[in-house]
Amino acid sequence: MIPNYWYAIIESKKVKQKPVSIKRMAQDLVLWREVNRNVICMVDRCPHRGAALSLGKVKDSCIECPYHGFQYSIDGQCTLIPCMGKNAVIPPGFVVKSFPTREAQGFIWIWWGEERSPLSELPWFEKLPDDLAHTAEGSQVWNVNYARIMESNFDIHHLPFVHRSVTPGVGTLLDPYHVEVKDDLICTWGQLRRDDGKSAEESPGWFFRITVIFPQLTLLELAPKVRLFVVVTPVDENYSWVAIRYYQDYVRLPLLGWFVSWLILMVEFKVFQEPQDLPVLRSLKPKYAGLRTNKLVAADAGSAQYLKRYEQLMRQGTLKVIVHIPLPKRRSLAIRLISPHQASKIS
Ligand code: FES
Ligand SMILES: [Fe+2]
Repeated sequence: MIPNYWYAIIESKKVKQKPVSIKRMAQDLVLWREVNRNVICMVDRCPHRGAALSLGKVKDSCIECPYHGFQYSIDGQCTLIPCMGKNAVIPPGFVVKSFPTREAQGFIWIWWGEERSPLSELPWFEKLPDDLAHTAEGSQVWNVNYARIMESNFDIHHLPFVHRSVTPGVGTLLDPYHVEVKDDLICTWGQLRRDDGKSAEESPGWFFRITVIFPQLTLLELAPKVRLFVVVTPVDENYSWVAIRYYQDYVRLPLLGWFVSWLILMVEFKVFQEPQDLPVLRSLKPKYAGLRTNKLVAADAGSAQYLKRYEQLMRQGTLKVIVHIPLPKRRSLAIRLISPHQASKIS
């Protein structure tokens, strides 16, 4: 998982005052809204004896552990240990890790990485309108590695095979095909057309444009006036949270606009993804994506660019382990995990 990015982790509407528990980035997280309706996100584990805070109650913006009633403020500091009395000094270490959180574009985002100030801007596609009235969205957890899903988001030449039954007549030749990379932005566009020996001008095919903001956002423009937005967030290395939203400009009437988007969304989930894409994605070997794990061709150039950046950042973000050899008298063994940034300061 790539550190030092904002990650959309859940739809805004799913977070209320009552704590909700989700697993993302290989961690159990608890989210709730404090009195001013700001969203708080923390690790869902009480430092005392490990109970899930999400089973507790929110009291004046603090979360109260269900087991012995210890309370934690919105920055994760323990503020009350009932069995010690309300005036007791809280011993050090009673802190729950909390994450910088933002709410935008219908999602809750957390900063997953080193503490920094200021944090970078939330990523977003300028092309997408802020008005969500005519959009429809849904999310699922898939048992597929997130980088495998992200590389598949670029994959246009699977269409005439995986989706043969619902896209008859779509050609198999990817020509022309362009890939452009600028920092975290990877943009691919071109045509999928018949392999009939003619040029793209003589025999045009199906036009597409796919844009990815590394590491988790994809915008697919596969038809005029319809845009498919996809978020892929790691649940852990083997499972991913996939959120999909359709934007359409055909129908802009109240409710009817949403209904049309919802119909397209249902077709996406029930016709394309669940029966057709998912079985193939689950079958991929190895389970984890990598530039050298499979043999890529020119039509995979978008995926290759994603994987190149993914591997580069994975290497940079890998935590180094420093082991202190136990000294005979102190009989202690300490293992510290430090980031490469910290490591360069030490060395
Ligand atoms: S486990 Fe949370 S207060 Fe004891
Ligand atoms: Fe597909």
